[in-house]
Amino acid sequence: MYDLVFRSARIVTPDRVILGDLGILDGLIAAVGPGLGPGREEIEASGRILFPGIIDAHVHLGVPIRGAESVDGVREGSRAAVFGGVTTLIDFTVQNKGESLVESFERRRAGIEGASYCDIALHANFTDFNEGNLAEIPEVLARGAAGIKIFMAYRRAGMQLSDVEILNVAQRVSRAGGLLMVHAENGDAADFLAEGLAEEGRRDAAAHAESRPDLIEAEAVFRVATLARIAKCPLYLVHLSSARGLETIRRLRADDWDILVETCPQYLLLDSSRYAEPDGQRYLASPPLRAKNDGLRLLDAVLGDEIEVVATDHCPFSRAAKDAAEDFLSVPNGIGGVETLFPLMFTRLTNLAEGGLAPKHNTILLRLARLMAENPARIFGLAPRKGAIVSGAEADLLLYDPAPHREVRAEDLHGAADWDAYEGMAIRGAVEGVWLRGKRIVEGEALLGKAGDGRFVEALPGKA
Ligand code: URP
Ligand code: ZN
Ligand code: ZN
Repeated sequence: MYDLVFRSARIVTPDRVILGDLGILDGLIAAVGPGLGPGREEIEASGRILFPGIIDAHVHLGVPIRGAESVDGVREGSRAAVFGGVTTLIDFTVQNKGESLVESFERRRAGIEGASYCDIALHANFTDFNEGNLAEIPEVLARGAAGIKIFMAYRRAGMQLSDVEILNVAQRVSRAGGLLMVHAENGDAADFLAEGLAEEGRRDAAAHAESRPDLIEAEAVFRVATLARIAKCPLYLVHLSSARGLETIRRLRADDWDILVETCPQYLLLDSSRYAEPDGQRYLASPPLRAKNDGLRLLDAVLGDEIEVVATDHCPFSRAAKDAAEDFLSVPNGIGGVETLFPLMFTRLTNLAEGGLAPKHNTILLRLARLMAENPARIFGLAPRKGAIVSGAEADLLLYDPAPHREVRAEDLHGAADWDAYEGMAIRGAVEGVWLRGKRIVEGEALLGKAGDGRFVEALPGKA
């Protein structure tokens, strides 16, 4: 007898979509197949799709940026996440000056306790370069950090590392069996351009994008890939935004460089025309939104399996915080998106499939699961516990009804932001139910879970 059986669902397993049943026992997926035995509870799921719970591998929960704090802390961000079918978030530590790598990790980890609606793993930001922090890299990985993240930009915020610092971090990460995650923008070039624009009297949002052209992404991609190769360190590039950056990656891969790549919905679905709007400052993020063509090229790469992960870089600020800034240099950078990640990607990719512009429907379902569950779980050491519908995995599940049509409306979302970058965009389908380790936490519009259901998840790289 199973605890719960889904009947007649389209079940997205790693290698095929099965029309059949799924049984849960003791919080784990116990069996998948046709005609399973009885469950204490049964859900008739014909016409609906069962995906593995979504893993958003790049979120910032409650971070200070340019004098403001992003509005979704652990509680708000995880609440928004579960309504979007996300059952695991990977957040970033914030390393204060003088705080050790392990201290910053433990402080962030303590903040998850009792506060989250979904499971949370952590990447460790390495922003305070010194011998002590270098020496702590193996320890923070042993404590379950999913990745070690560095920045090639944000010198004014004290976060940017130099090339020799990157080499040192990469070498330690490599020796400890970890993964180096990189925000790849040439920060000095961006600061140089921004200062020039400010001197010309530019204050507007478009100046932000002009100060961070695709060239500075492509240069940083090439440079950090080179540094990582010298240090023999596995590399994961966060938030790839441009066709020029993508071309650089293609050339590196053609020369046998191994690189894992993430992009985000804002670079696939939004474009830089937003900066010309009266509320353009709200869309400030780094990297900036790009031209429409960049998004189309990145989408091709997503469909062509050249991009491993789609994650959000969720970092929403209130309208007041965005609008209060005097000029583009002082707007807090970041856009929210955790709740709409899966529905918007489902909509975009299934629409392309129906228009004959992408592989057939079932292939798209497999691709969605791979990009937003299997790959992040495997890359960040959460598999085989999470990320796939296979026997023995934790029963983190998303039941999706593909039939409804609606639009994104900020007032319907469950985070703390008072606006949304995707307002008015069409969504196909709806999250009907979400299960976390076998417990139902969302039923349509009802939140059944509570803050504290979510646990810290230790990453175990190399054990997948
Ligand atoms: O603008 C952004 N992306 N804000 C969050 C911090 C980062 O660089 O990922
Ligand atoms: Zn970044
Ligand atoms: Zn980020």
